[in-house]
Amino acid sequence: MTAELPRKRIIGYADELSVAPGETIHFMASCEDITAYDASIVRLISADLHPDGRGWIEEHVPSAVDNSYPGRVQAIAAGSWALVPAMPCLCAESFTVAAWIWPTTPGKGHQIIARRMAPDGSRGWSLALDANGALAMTVATDKGSVTVSTGTPLLERVWCHVGASVDGDAGHVTVWQRPRKIWPWHDTHGEASASFEGHIEAGGLTLSFAGAHEREEGRRTFASGHYNGKIDAPRLWRGVSSPGDAEAKHDAGRSDLALIAAWDFADAMTSDVIVDSSANMAHGILFNVPTRAMKGHNWTGDVLDWMAAPEQYGAIHFHDDDVHDCGWDVDFELTVPDDMPSGIYAAKLGSGDDQDHIPFVVLPPRGQATADVLFLMPSASYMAYANEHSSSHGGGFMQSFSNGLSGMSAQDLLLNERADLGYSLYDVHSDGSGVAYSSRLRPILNMRPGVTNSWVGPAGTFPWQFNADLPLVDFLTHEGIAFDVATDEDLDNEGLGLLSRYRVVLTGSHPEYYSKAMLDGLQAFIDRGGRLMYLGGNGFYWRVAYNPDMPGVMELRRGEDGIRDWVAEGGEYYQSFDGAYGGMWERQGRPIHALAGVGMAGQGFDSSTYYRRTEASRDPRAAFIFEGIDDEIIGDFGTVGGGAAGIEVDRCDHGKGSPPNTLVLASSEGLSDTYYPGPEEIDNASPLIDGSHNPNLRADLTFMETNGGGAVFSTGSIAWMGSLTCNGFDNNVAQIMRNVLKRFRDAETFGGSD
Ligand SMILES: [Fe+2]
Repeated sequence: MTAELPRKRIIGYADELSVAPGETIHFMASCEDITAYDASIVRLISADLHPDGRGWIEEHVPSAVDNSYPGRVQAIAAGSWALVPAMPCLCAESFTVAAWIWPTTPGKGHQIIARRMAPDGSRGWSLALDANGALAMTVATDKGSVTVSTGTPLLERVWCHVGASVDGDAGHVTVWQRPRKIWPWHDTHGEASASFEGHIEAGGLTLSFAGAHEREEGRRTFASGHYNGKIDAPRLWRGVSSPGDAEAKHDAGRSDLALIAAWDFADAMTSDVIVDSSANMAHGILFNVPTRAMKGHNWTGDVLDWMAAPEQYGAIHFHDDDVHDCGWDVDFELTVPDDMPSGIYAAKLGSGDDQDHIPFVVLPPRGQATADVLFLMPSASYMAYANEHSSSHGGGFMQSFSNGLSGMSAQDLLLNERADLGYSLYDVHSDGSGVAYSSRLRPILNMRPGVTNSWVGPAGTFPWQFNADLPLVDFLTHEGIAFDVATDEDLDNEGLGLLSRYRVVLTGSHPEYYSKAMLDGLQAFIDRGGRLMYLGGNGFYWRVAYNPDMPGVMELRRGEDGIRDWVAEGGEYYQSFDGAYGGMWERQGRPIHALAGVGMAGQGFDSSTYYRRTEASRDPRAAFIFEGIDDEIIGDFGTVGGGAAGIEVDRCDHGKGSPPNTLVLASSEGLSDTYYPGPEEIDNASPLIDGSHNPNLRADLTFMETNGGGAVFSTGSIAWMGSLTCNGFDNNVAQIMRNVLKRFRDAETFGGSD
């Protein structure tokens, strides 16, 4: 018997995540073995394919997109590197090139450190790690090519001064490596020389770091020979220097008359530009967001903030699987008509059984609201999880999460095969270092209707993230409640200005990642009387940063504490995009408890449970929430684990900042022993910390009034939304939502006096 694994043959992305009427969004696609596909625009209502879910509901939106398009393969030029344009000043008959490097995979094969060579290798020079991980210099002249290697592999993650000098008159080349630290039996010093004939003619050639400049195709620039690891302070001098002299004068700077170029990677840190601090100003650009604000060869450990000592943070960590903007050619576009209502839409691409949906948000007209309710789509969290590889890379670890086998989909299989699609902020690069940037300018295969997460629920059966948030759209549509949609990126751009146009803001099921502008905007909205319905779990947990100079990319440092699939190195907690201290908001004096009444208590991924009402739910202040509900048990049903309380859960904790007026309306019971608290909750681990023993590990349903006359309703559970649609929306979770929405939309302020 043979079985064919499912294969995803159409993938695509859009250049924008949200667009307003009158604006244009472009769609890019790549097809495998498909000569033509049909495309159209659909409005997404539901894609909960769980047996108890509402199934697939989408509405075709007639537009100029409706057509057939030719299928074609569009490649991704993945891997980060740096390019300096060709400049006459970079040429010298005799020269010395050097840098400090910290290789992370010296044995993976040929990796470029610095290079000025024609793509066909016919002329120029190239300083690289060779197939054995030793430093090698190649010079190519009209008389042929010579490569000389030290023959000694560099050690992984050890700073090493590397370089080569070329005597053009004598036809002599020397290459060296001088490690900063030597261990007994591990002296990796190396030096070797060779002769060559002819002259190096490098005129007109670009100079590159961490990759070999290959070719341009449309908006894409391809490179090869990608290097994994850090490069710090590359230098180029006129004339021949000995290895010792080169290292000694490495930091002499502009006073050195022989200096051609001295790249200072700590300069222009927040951008994708690299700066040559020499008089020649041979500046360059970075491709595919390598990690900046990295400790350099001269980091002392006395300073942890790159802005306080930028000269110690001159390293860039390059990865062979970094991805930013795929730069694909446009297949089709949509100019949003003026009468297109705000909502969640998708470009639907299909050929036979092969399909892809590229979701996007239509905003209300700029500066306007067309409803009093806003669904704030947690796109920062979607980006954090974008193309997450936990099931294929995490193996049994992830299966222990769901207490069952992972359920690999066609998306997971393709991601496992295609490293060039890039990683999520939960993954590590091929060299084991954490992924600190996520871009949406690439196909994001798990931000799709109908897609479940391989390790959330047995065989990955529970809706998750984007797909798990659609039931809210389904509910609001079914109830006839007008709503607008905006994304986290819109909130980051506009702050309070966006939210102030609404009376009620609804979150998604897992709004975990917040930039400062987002958090400030949301807090200000609440403080001035806004009404927040926090409909998820583990929200407002990590600090992230967007970069106005690099739209579409988000940065995260997994520092200090919290549930982390990788951990940033000490001294590398500060974000490169804005210099802010990264990590958990709770660690920065902004506990979610103060904002929402509840905060992260723990997580488990095998099943969900229900809430039981508390005595406090009978408080007259909460009477409006339970109108028409006599049940003691809330939400003992649902498509996300069979209950409304679960997956990632938050509790009220006055010691952590929950305001004293927080009413705990109901609390979960019976979370399983696969539930565990985050590290920030574990001061001293014991066998009593799991969900079946730990009274602090629970979901609390809460309500609180705010000083501004507004209010916050929180569910403290990712699973909540999976219960909304059950029994044709006739259930106590949906009824609570109706009740809260009705009161929250009412202009009457919430009282605060006893
Ligand atoms: Fe999360």
